[in-house]
Amino acid sequence: MSKITIAIDGFSSTGKSTVAKQIAKHLGYVYVDSGAMYRAVTYYAMQNGLIGDNDFNKEALIYQLPKINISFKFNESLGFAEVYLNDENIEKQIRTLEVSNFVSQVATVSEVREQLVKQQQKMGQDKGVVMDGRDIGTVVFPNAELKIFMTASAETRAKRRYNELIERDDDVAYKDVLKNVQNRDYIDSNREDSPLIKADDAIEIDNSDLSLDEQFEKVLQLVRMTLEDK
Ligand code: DC
Repeated sequence: MSKITIAIDGFSSTGKSTVAKQIAKHLGYVYVDSGAMYRAVTYYAMQNGLIGDNDFNKEALIYQLPKINISFKFNESLGFAEVYLNDENIEKQIRTLEVSNFVSQVATVSEVREQLVKQQQKMGQDKGVVMDGRDIGTVVFPNAELKIFMTASAETRAKRRYNELIERDDDVAYKDVLKNVQNRDYIDSNREDSPLIKADDAIEIDNSDLSLDEQFEKVLQLVRMTLEDK
């Protein structure tokens, strides 16, 4: 059967990666978490003193971009690919609220986007890929056969993210997580380069009231319909 490209975009913490992973596993496709790549660049900037409390040395980051090598390696026991920065596994480090607080700012830098988009397009060149992010259906794969745009209320998303962080023993307050979600929504949607917008041909799914199983079934149905149409 021929393979397709599946682009899943949407606001932060809409559960894009959960459903993307499930669908990729079900179809035997490659899953790519493009947000992890922006997070990896942010982590690099933090580790190398390019991001402080209130300042971000954008020029230095652009200068150091050639030194940043991001890759994914499949972890059999987890069932998904983990992200590596210059051969160091940073899967856990990039999920902290600290990284979340800076990542949207880093993602506004066009030079960063250009480098990551190129890498993402390469990863999807043979199709059979499910990629989630903010600009996958609009910029990375404008010709993707299936585009999904996920939404849910900011409160629902903050609650989900808060539960995830607490489960991982992170010491966070719900109000800070909600503030982060709202802040990122604003920056992601209003940046000049590749803002988060729904592609004209994307199908919107509001999952505020959907269980994970219901969400998976809905997306799988769209995949089947897309494959039948081919
Ligand atoms: O999906 P996520 O929450 O891990 O993404 C982290 C940030 O990266 C998000 O606030 C915006 C940015 N991002 C982006 O600009 N473009 C993408 N394709 C993916 C993520």
